[in-house]
Amino acid sequence: MELKKHQEKNSSDYYYEVRNLDRISKYRSLSAVERAARIIYLNKTCYNGLFRVNSQGQFNVPFGRYKKPNILDEDVLKAVSKYLNKPQVKLLNTDFAEAVKKAKEGDFIYFDPPYDPVSDTASFTGYDANGFNRNEQERLKEVVDDLTARGCRVMLSNSQTDFIMDLYQDYQDKIHIVKAARNINSKSFKRGKINEIIVLNFSVSGLS
Ligand SMILES: C[S@@+](CC[C@H](N)C(=O)[O-])C[C@H]1O[C@@H](n2cnc3c(N)ncnc32)[C@H](O)[C@@H]1O
Repeated sequence: MELKKHQEKNSSDYYYEVRNLDRISKYRSLSAVERAARIIYLNKTCYNGLFRVNSQGQFNVPFGRYKKPNILDEDVLKAVSKYLNKPQVKLLNTDFAEAVKKAKEGDFIYFDPPYDPVSDTASFTGYDANGFNRNEQERLKEVVDDLTARGCRVMLSNSQTDFIMDLYQDYQDKIHIVKAARNINSKSFKRGKINEIIVLNFSVSGLS
């Protein structure tokens, strides 16, 4: 198993050597399995398990300094692999509008988009080189409306900002506020529970 070669290597030097691979031409010759093992290793050993790339698509999260990260969890990996290889599971790497184009009446769709930043300084929206700004949030809301009109059941999570509350006001009676643990924040005092919203386009008895 390719991940085994990274297993006992939780050092800053090794981490940056592996992180650096997508900045050199050798990256293009890595197999899909080698790339997957690299990203699992980085995810387990980087700062707060964050996924972030720079404008050139290069992974740029610093080393995490964990004492004993569980780099290779064979049972979980095998279980997830078995599940994802079921014939009814299809993974798409595409825009959200494209991904739900063929959704039919009665289908259930969950959206977990990049979160609207809670304050201007907390502008962590750069998951990828394209970012996800408020125009994108508005475009996603139009897709939710379209799915609603087509009879699909939709669930969406986001941060509880004025902008998002306003955007989803049509679903007002089906917005649920939940406290979510967040440790992806550069300032440790800002980590902890924050309000998130769950928007539904259908009612669930017992949920307030
Ligand atoms: C909050 S994360 C979701 C994390 C995921 N649910 C998980 O548990 O790992 C938001 C995701 O939206 C993706 N994203 C950004 N723009 C997108 C787009 N236009 N269409 C589909 N997905 C997009 C980002 O790449 C990122 O993975």
